Amino acid sequence: MLRLHCHPDGLASTIVEIGPDLRSRLTEFVIALRAERPCFVLADPRAVVGLGLEADLWVEGGESAKTWPQLGATLEALAAHQLDRAGVVVAIGGGSLGDLGGLAASLWLRGVGLVMVPTTLLSMVDSSVGGKTAVNLPRGKNLVGTFWSAERVRIDPEFLTTLPEPEYRSGLGEVLKVAIGLDAELAEHCERAHAALLARDADAVGIAVQRCLEAKIRIVEADPREGGLRRLLNLGHTLGHALEADSGYAIPHGITVARGIYHVLELAERTGHCGAADAARGRRLLERFGFEAHEVPAAMVLRNYLVQDKKRQGARIHAVLPTGIGSSKVVSMDLDGFLQGID
Ligand code: GLY
Repeated sequence: MLRLHCHPDGLASTIVEIGPDLRSRLTEFVIALRAERPCFVLADPRAVVGLGLEADLWVEGGESAKTWPQLGATLEALAAHQLDRAGVVVAIGGGSLGDLGGLAASLWLRGVGLVMVPTTLLSMVDSSVGGKTAVNLPRGKNLVGTFWSAERVRIDPEFLTTLPEPEYRSGLGEVLKVAIGLDAELAEHCERAHAALLARDADAVGIAVQRCLEAKIRIVEADPREGGLRRLLNLGHTLGHALEADSGYAIPHGITVARGIYHVLELAERTGHCGAADAARGRRLLERFGFEAHEVPAAMVLRNYLVQDKKRQGARIHAVLPTGIGSSKVVSMDLDGFLQGID
């Protein structure tokens, strides 16, 4: 089993365990944890089919889990369970369950322990590490949240074998975000092993998961509360969040992020922040994974969503632009400048 450690200043440390038998031993792990300390298990029933797991609250994953009413229901369930201050919330599922469970853990009794078992590619490579928790409001995504790190994250890529294709592709969007924005070696791996990654080959996926987590840990340790460097993890997210909201959250997050990365590659090339060859290579990489530059809603429609973006500062946004393959930077832009190239 591989162990990674994340020690962000001012947030609790996280031990990330990546291993091949963690899925098959999940029920055993939860029983042992319950014997050690009070536990509240929040799980997505679709993620644990056939494992015989007993959860205290079942919530289906997806953006419908990340609502204010669902947060209230989760806190009510914690109250009924009488989880005490020594207790731990165990969130088993994708990013939405992690965001919901993490937020509830940070609020209940002003904060109890959190263990995450991410079961989707997106939650394995991104959302389970770094302490961001959130629910959405009708006016925008992730508008209510806290920073609350998991003590432990247990990852087994075996969960991915039964993941529905759109959700797997959504995770690949986040992998390509790290490859294009932060890690040239991961980009080379994705180029070389794109067929194996699309086929969910365990070795190819394992390398991608590990490299994404290593990059994320480096960034989160340097800037836990997103004062600067951590903004780089938002590559593709400004347009991505707008597209996601415009679809009524029907299009999975990472798929809209991939479309957003395509846009910022073009924008970075047009504004001289990224050379033409690297921008073309980035777009080719996205296309190899089936993320072609499909049509998006009109700039006027997208603008309305960008105005609600929580990363906006007045009339300007922090746009993350690739500067090459494996590197990126934050550029302050007005909304119209960011939407250049979209009619
Ligand atoms: N998903 C972006 C971040 O954790 O900062």
